[in-house]
Amino acid sequence: MKSAYIIGNWKANKTVQEAGDWFEEIQAQPFDKTELPEIIICVSFIHLPILKEKLLTPKPGAPVIKIGAQDISRFEEGPYTGEIAGNILKDLAEYVIIGHSERRKYFWETEETLKAKVKNALKFGLKPIYCISEKEMIIPEGVEIVAYEPLFAIGTGSPDTPDNANETIAEIKKRGQIKVLYGGSVKPDNAHIFTSQPAIDGLLIGGASLSASEFSAIIKNAA
Ligand code: PGA
Repeated sequence: MKSAYIIGNWKANKTVQEAGDWFEEIQAQPFDKTELPEIIICVSFIHLPILKEKLLTPKPGAPVIKIGAQDISRFEEGPYTGEIAGNILKDLAEYVIIGHSERRKYFWETEETLKAKVKNALKFGLKPIYCISEKEMIIPEGVEIVAYEPLFAIGTGSPDTPDNANETIAEIKKRGQIKVLYGGSVKPDNAHIFTSQPAIDGLLIGGASLSASEFSAIIKNAA
């Protein structure tokens, strides 16, 4: 087993019923590998309680799936209508995506905001999965998992080349003790070529994580 992490990101998709069905389906998948990477699915806040409950009663022999959120408030608990603070999240999720390019673009999240989010995540024991789209971008202190996701590759069906992703990730890893994943148009048929690159520590998967069968095919195909 080489890949450290296979992470799905549902974005703003799935009803609560569909989220539960996905989880049942993936738990029924046989994974014959003895060693699996850390498998994480990052879901809407609304889905967290039901998935947490399902995690507490796993099917015998089912793969362990960890739960992540897709965002966290930059503020701590208090008068911030609509926000989800770290102490609300901490009992429901283990990981949290921070700095996804869609949040930077559509919600105008700045480096300062992202730094505050990372600080809050760490304060409440949540592990940040920090997204950058270029190798020079800031990675806040305390981050141990980074996802390199070039903008042209996200949701387009045109992934980066494995060579280029590997080279860029190798550069990013020179910055410290971090695991760096590749994300952008990963599908079952290209997962292996990315995970078999020496510098790439795993995958962050958007569209293909919505289907339990595609997501499990990626897990099976990953190196
Ligand atoms: P995609 O999304 O796999 O649908 O390209 C990746 C991401 O946004 O993390």
